[in-house]
Amino acid sequence: MSPPNPLLSDNVPSHILSLLDRLHEASLNQESSITKADYAASVIHENMKDKFIALEQDKCHFVYQLAKAIGAKNIVEAGTSFGVSTIYLALAVAANIKATGGSGVVIGTEHEPEKAAKAREHWKECGEIVSGLIDLREGDLRETLKVALPDTIDLLLLDIWTPMVVPTLKLVQPKFRPGSVIIADNTVGSAPDYQEFFDYIRAPDSGFTNITLPYHKGLEMSVYSPK
Ligand SMILES: C[S@@+](CC[C@H](N)C(=O)[O-])C[C@H]1O[C@@H](n2cnc3c(N)ncnc32)[C@H](O)[C@@H]1O
Repeated sequence: MSPPNPLLSDNVPSHILSLLDRLHEASLNQESSITKADYAASVIHENMKDKFIALEQDKCHFVYQLAKAIGAKNIVEAGTSFGVSTIYLALAVAANIKATGGSGVVIGTEHEPEKAAKAREHWKECGEIVSGLIDLREGDLRETLKVALPDTIDLLLLDIWTPMVVPTLKLVQPKFRPGSVIIADNTVGSAPDYQEFFDYIRAPDSGFTNITLPYHKGLEMSVYSPK
């Protein structure tokens, strides 16, 4: 029996479910040909220009559930690529707005113009329920996240090259509320590259509580809990 899909229970339209299945499959097919050397700092931008490297589907389902559990209406995604995880985030925000009213946004970030254009195509295919909730910031997120963030950010998804992780967190952290959540991908598989992040977020006075979830290559979940 396949594991439950929370999007199915929430009656997400079938054309979005089919698109997501197709995009995850394309991403997995590409990943089988990516090597560790492709991630070297000197070549990573060039080598990943046409690659999804989407967050795995089980992790996307978890993030969707989490965003609903905390009622997230304002979300920042560091690393949007072709926009796969962004779709889940937008669907969760849509569900939260439907449940309790108000407004919300998913702020996506993508450095590569071709990837940003492809992401927009995917969101258009989903329809207004997704595309209408996304504010995609194109360019280097260390610049694009400096301005015009909502007063409160409920959830930050860090799915980006590791040197960007701490700079992103420092830009977004002033907008956290108690209970805001950070999810960071691959924190076991790429543990040495995450050292700066671990030093920051796991420091005794960091204001965060942390747990590593046992997904493939690890998924860090940190909750903002200022003293
Ligand atoms: C792992 S992929 C994101 C996958 C996406 N979250 C998904 O699940 O579909 C990371 C993305 O971050 C982008 N990126 C890397 N450095 C960036 C920067 N400084 N500013 C904005 N985007 C950046 C890359 O171009 C790449 O597409």
